[in-house]
Amino acid sequence: MAQASGPSDVPDLGRRQFMNLLTFGAVTGAGLGMLYPVVKYFIPPSSGGTGGGVTAKDALGNPVVFKDFLASHSVGDRVLAQGLKGDPTYIVVESSDAIANYGINAVCTHLGCVVPWNASEDKFICPCHGSQYDSAGKVVRGPAPLSLPLAHADVTEAGTIALSTWTETDFRTGEDPWWS
Ligand code: FES
Repeated sequence: MAQASGPSDVPDLGRRQFMNLLTFGAVTGAGLGMLYPVVKYFIPPSSGGTGGGVTAKDALGNPVVFKDFLASHSVGDRVLAQGLKGDPTYIVVESSDAIANYGINAVCTHLGCVVPWNASEDKFICPCHGSQYDSAGKVVRGPAPLSLPLAHADVTEAGTIALSTWTETDFRTGEDPWWS
């Protein structure tokens, strides 16, 4: 008569443990999921090129290869690539065999729209509120308060294009860079 809590409890216990495990898994999974961006923030990108820089990536996420890049663009082109912190950044074709040693961050300093290059106007013109930047990204018309940030653009030994933080004087304004 005292058999009520006999073997019939075993499946219950098993199920409870199983449910506990599920809950634990769900909570842990969610926790890790939430932690991921935090952890990622503190870990430098693994695709780093030179000295804290990153390899520029094309629209498909592939590294931008200098030789192919030059072969497929014309002198004067400003071509979007994925740069530092994933920001869209223009690489400038300076001549038939060189890129400019600076890239131009394409994020408008007004409210963050990506600013397209307008070759016929020789300017970057923001479609959102009309800010304009000259061919090197210096602001020439508001409401944008600041010029577009610069990044160093270099060709790596592997033949890819690397972008790294520009901490020196902004050659367009003669001032310290506002972005670093
Ligand atoms: Fe570019 Fe406002 S976001 S002008």
